[in-house]
Amino acid sequence: MELASRRAASLLAVAAIAAVFLAGPVTAVGKTGQVTVFWGRNKDEGTLREACDSGLYTMVIMSFLNVYGHGKYNLDLSGHPIAGMGDDIKHCQFIGVPVSLSIGGFGNGYSLPSNRSALELFDYLWNAYFGGSKAGVYRPFGDAWLDGVDLFLEHGTPADRYDVLALELAKHNIRGAPGKPLHLTATPRCTFPPSSYLGRAVATGIFERIHIRIYDDDNCEAYWHLAWDKWTAAYPATRFYVGMTASEMTHGWVHPKNVYYDVAPSTQKADNYGGFMIWDRYYDKLSNYTSMVKAYA
Ligand SMILES: *[C@@H]1O[C@H](CO)[C@@H](O)[C@H](O)[C@H]1NC(C)=O
Ligand SMILES: *[C@@H]1O[C@H](CO)[C@@H](O)[C@H](O)[C@H]1NC(C)=O
Repeated sequence: MELASRRAASLLAVAAIAAVFLAGPVTAVGKTGQVTVFWGRNKDEGTLREACDSGLYTMVIMSFLNVYGHGKYNLDLSGHPIAGMGDDIKHCQFIGVPVSLSIGGFGNGYSLPSNRSALELFDYLWNAYFGGSKAGVYRPFGDAWLDGVDLFLEHGTPADRYDVLALELAKHNIRGAPGKPLHLTATPRCTFPPSSYLGRAVATGIFERIHIRIYDDDNCEAYWHLAWDKWTAAYPATRFYVGMTASEMTHGWVHPKNVYYDVAPSTQKADNYGGFMIWDRYYDKLSNYTSMVKAYA
């Protein structure tokens, strides 16, 4: 009941804002139109194909490969059936929506504490999800070839060698036929400077995009503007996406009105602004958040 009335109130508020937008001065009209969404954290979010076909997103990141670094690997897509997913990936790519794979996440099954473990992870990723093939390495998506790797690291140690992994992936960023570009991205909390293990990786300067999460973290909710300015200034060759939650129930949710009046105009001052990142498809499908804010991206 309370949830329903809150939702109704927020819908009314959105309708009111829409009216203001028509009358008021335009402070944000969208700069790139780019919206990346995370998919794979809830079986009830619908298929990957449906997410791509919604027309809302310009990239989908599957999450997560949540076990690696000690000879074992596990892909956790929250019970989504893997059969047929290779076809969904190809379909997304065909309609112009690249599909990337995020490694890490909220579990404790991953670490990358040596150059050797980093090279082994590269070898596994390349053969299981990209252009490689190797006897004994299972390809869950068959011959579908993913478009990128994302680092979503909730923990690590200074010994972790994500820089070595990133450098190896960058060597395989093949921009001519028959190879493919490999989009290298990271999705950290807003805090700047980043953790030493992520910092060492992004300091290589080879990350194409960084999605800065401004939700679900007390510091980021309060200070993300400052952090955003530091991140974007520190890595001018990288494009920055502002990461927002589609769930009103998550701390740090930004009302669409404030996306229009604050988030979009303040982040788009940066020359290397890239777009929005939305966490995640499940909540987005319930709330229609992206359809409300996409025009400001
Ligand atoms: C790990 O790889 C990095 C980058 O190639 C190199 O600088 C470093 O010396 C290597 N460390 C070891 C212990 O081999
Ligand atoms: C979101 O959009 C769908 C499809 O248009 C609609 O059925 C649903 O009621 C909407 N949900 C909210 C919360 O606006």
